Amino acid sequence: MSNFRTFILGLIASFGLPWLFLIVIPVIKYQELTSLPYDKDRDGVEGYYPPATVHGQGQLVYIREGCVQCHTQMIRPTQLALDGWRKGWGQDQEARPSTPVRSNNLRDYFGEKYAPLGMVRSGPDLANYGWRAPERSVIHQMLYAPRTLHDWSNMPAYRHLYKQRERQGPESSNAVKVSTKGDSRYEVVPTAEAEALVDYLLSLKKDYLVPGTAVADSAPGKK
Ligand code: HEC
Repeated sequence: MSNFRTFILGLIASFGLPWLFLIVIPVIKYQELTSLPYDKDRDGVEGYYPPATVHGQGQLVYIREGCVQCHTQMIRPTQLALDGWRKGWGQDQEARPSTPVRSNNLRDYFGEKYAPLGMVRSGPDLANYGWRAPERSVIHQMLYAPRTLHDWSNMPAYRHLYKQRERQGPESSNAVKVSTKGDSRYEVVPTAEAEALVDYLLSLKKDYLVPGTAVADSAPGKK
């Protein structure tokens, strides 16, 4: 009988405690979060942190398409004050600026229905993609045919988010810059879902200045 009690207690300790500490407590903490006001004198910024949330419709497309399988949206805090390793983390692939971006915290995901943190970093971290993103048309080109930008890319092509159609007179202003097999009668245009996805990618700016921290900690290009 005492064996049985030990067994049950063991079960509670092995499953119950991790559940409590890894799921229940963080969920409660997250639900209690509120946005924080900036102090104009101290922070030099007005309004509330985080100032904007992500594009919700586009986030649903991002989740449905499984982008989260290869991309993270989370820059981890540094451990043991080893600050150097994350230089350039989550910034542009090619330019790799040396300014560090700050690590993310719970409030950065405030107002998002889901937080697609991701687990695998096969592709670059997208937490701050909105700051470094190229023009809209280039993002569409990348989603339609990634290898036209990087011939080494192993990012899948998301052609089903676009449609090829016969041109109605001159090329549409939103036509994706890809060849339609030399046939100039056709053009490729984004669907509403592709547009929402790009709006979402452009809204990813998760290193807004945290109230009470030095201005230098925030992303380049901002105060
Ligand atoms: C199989 C893994 C994989 C999947 C799934 C995937 N990507 Fe990627 N992605 C990559 C890789 C690898 C790169 C880097 C190479 C490149 O730029 O083409 C990349 C690059 C990117 C970039 C450019 C990042 C930068 O820093 O310039 C964006 C934006 C992006 N992906 C968005 C998406 C979106 C949106 C989806 C879902 C519709 C998606 N990815 C799905 C692997 C993936």
